[in-house]
Amino acid sequence: MNGIVHQLSRTLSRAGPLVGCSGSAGRRLGSTVASKRHIEGQLTSEEIYAREEKYGAHNYHPLPVALERGQGIYVWDVEGKRYYDFLSAYSAVNQGHCHPKIVAALQAQAARLTLTSRAFYNDKLGAYEEFITNMFGYNKVLPMNTGVEGCETACKLARKWAYTVKGVPKNQAKIIFADGNFWGRTMAAISSSTDPSSYEGFGPYMPGFEIVPYNDIPSLEKALQDPNVAAFMVEPIQGEAGVVVPDHGYLTKVRELCTKYNVLWIADEVQTGLARTGRRLAVDHEGLHPDMVVLGKALSGGVYPVSAVLCDDHIMLTIKPGEHGSTYGGNPIACEVAIAALEVMEEERLAENAERMGELLRSELRKLPRDIVTTVRGKGLLNAIVIKETKDYDAWKVCLRLRDNGLLAKPTHGDIIRLAPPLVIKEDEIRECTDIIQRTILSF
Ligand SMILES: Cc1ncc(COP(=O)(O)O)c(C=O)c1O
Repeated sequence: MNGIVHQLSRTLSRAGPLVGCSGSAGRRLGSTVASKRHIEGQLTSEEIYAREEKYGAHNYHPLPVALERGQGIYVWDVEGKRYYDFLSAYSAVNQGHCHPKIVAALQAQAARLTLTSRAFYNDKLGAYEEFITNMFGYNKVLPMNTGVEGCETACKLARKWAYTVKGVPKNQAKIIFADGNFWGRTMAAISSSTDPSSYEGFGPYMPGFEIVPYNDIPSLEKALQDPNVAAFMVEPIQGEAGVVVPDHGYLTKVRELCTKYNVLWIADEVQTGLARTGRRLAVDHEGLHPDMVVLGKALSGGVYPVSAVLCDDHIMLTIKPGEHGSTYGGNPIACEVAIAALEVMEEERLAENAERMGELLRSELRKLPRDIVTTVRGKGLLNAIVIKETKDYDAWKVCLRLRDNGLLAKPTHGDIIRLAPPLVIKEDEIRECTDIIQRTILSF
């Protein structure tokens, strides 16, 4: 292994300077990166940034930190520095990094049977299907891999249901989305996006998608009156938009209107689900049962791509053999990992902890100076602060300094910082983290 790393190091040094490169990486890294100790035989952080810059597509703008290990609420960089993880891989790592029970499930199944495709039965899929449908109270589940595939599956099911059950004329079905939605990067997902950096330059777009303002019941009701509407897909809290929490009661109204107009309500719980907001599902805050629920991310605790669509037979059985699927969807590793991840969520009472720790986190954050942190919002451990930008600092600079102080968070939309640690975090750790955040903010 070391040999390979050495060889790579040599290849890189032949390929050109590694640090302070003149392209966007050089500008991006800036002068805030402390000079790093070079551990014999390993790449330094700067070398890791430069290698990705050179060989990888530039479709991300990572915070400059190169991680090599994670455990619970912590991650370590290649120089051995420890950080609190306040992003949790966009809420995929709710159960904490490398949860032993989930990793053990992965390892055991990986040594036994990994993939059969759905051309054959396997001995794990049915057990998982029974487990997850019982847990969430739906007749059936359709397993996929990533969140965006889950959402896309829900849209396909809604269209099929519209034609075969609701009686919408062929190719006329509409799906309504909320302004500010985010459900991934496929052509369908960007076709419903209102964020130019998602959709600009990738047209033409998917027809039959319409947008209404988020948290706006009169506009939704107007849209749902169209008899060709199949579904309304919405996040119970908009994660990527910057943790936008709708008014309490909004989702109850969504439920009522979708029932009234015979429209399917799809709850995109890919980010909000699985204990993140202080309930198993975010819709549980209002005691609601959507027609379809999409899960992803934490359904594997961050060890494997696993997503799922849950709904009842009158929707799920509109799709027949050969009409939808995925080679990896429902594979035995995914099934074992998902059962373990859901069991951990229950056994460790992650929703209760997220609720309590979230209250504490927000109450501490509300003590920060209002002229810098203008807003604190969120539910459970899905939270955000809004930073007032000045010429001296913005959310990116705050995140760089948080990193220097041992806490990793990522800005979204320029002035918003999401704060979403793994749900296994404890009270003294929350207090230490709020100290770090306070110290960092006050240092500006
Ligand atoms: C609400 C929501 N839906 C769907 C997705 C897409 O998930 P994935 O990136 O796994 O495709 C995301 C990703 O951030 C999300 O936040």
